Amino acid sequence: MKEDTRAGRWAIPYHYECLNGRVDTLLARQADVIRDCRVLDLASHMGTFAYAALQLGARHVHGVDTEAALLRKGEDLFGRMQVPRDAYVFEEKDVFEFLEACQPDSFDTILCFGLLYYVMEPFRLLQLMARAAQRCVLLDTFTARYAALQGKDALQYYPHVSDEALDLPILLTSLTRSEKKDYRLPNTFDYQGKELALTSFPSRALLEIWFQVLGLNFTLLEWRDYIQKPCHWRDLWTPEQKKAAHWADVYASEVRVSYRLTPPGV
Ligand SMILES: C[S@@+](CC[C@H](N)C(=O)[O-])C[C@H]1O[C@@H](n2cnc3c(N)ncnc32)[C@H](O)[C@@H]1O
Repeated sequence: MKEDTRAGRWAIPYHYECLNGRVDTLLARQADVIRDCRVLDLASHMGTFAYAALQLGARHVHGVDTEAALLRKGEDLFGRMQVPRDAYVFEEKDVFEFLEACQPDSFDTILCFGLLYYVMEPFRLLQLMARAAQRCVLLDTFTARYAALQGKDALQYYPHVSDEALDLPILLTSLTRSEKKDYRLPNTFDYQGKELALTSFPSRALLEIWFQVLGLNFTLLEWRDYIQKPCHWRDLWTPEQKKAAHWADVYASEVRVSYRLTPPGV
């Protein structure tokens, strides 16, 4: 990676240190469910994690995203890196449309990074992934705590949000601009001349109830090798705090969490 397409964003930018940390935690340390596996990368963006999965020995990767320009960029990067043409597919499709058409156990491992909060039916997405994955779903997502931090004026808008409330099994939904720096969210609507979409942020408690309901065994992935200091979500409230944050602060504060999910009997 030579460029950071999301420079200036405070949470999970494509800075190489963050990217390497994510590849290490989310993929390299899960190599047993990557090596020799058929991997589906949902919201594959420009193919960064699909590429890393191939480097770690995946047999085949299938990237799915709605943003055609990012898929083309991925194809171009894979071509330049001389990745064998039969080792990957990039497909322009909504993840629901894709998964609904999938046979059960079509893939060994599904990557769901930076996507669950962009869909209006996160439980349904988990359900469809559990059906399509034979061995594992790797999940990396923002939680309800992120909803309390959004925007420059978060401190002013959400002063009464408490830890107790955010620890309940709740789902917070908020509006977001559909036009992002390098992609546009599907399922948008117009409100007062602005193109908006909905984001959904389940609390960690709700996520873990959903996993149990779906019969998925879950392990919370550890970021301790990257976390520099303890961080509470309120330490990320103001623009100044966000600017001063280390990339791993979102994991230290559980504003973002990642899980390894396995179907029963695996
Ligand atoms: C925050 S980026 C995540 C990229 C990468 N997986 C990561 O974790 O860094 C979100 C990606 O999701 C894609 N996306 C959002 N909603 C989608 C949907 N319903 N179906 C397919 N792709 C979607 C966007 O186009 C964008 O590439």
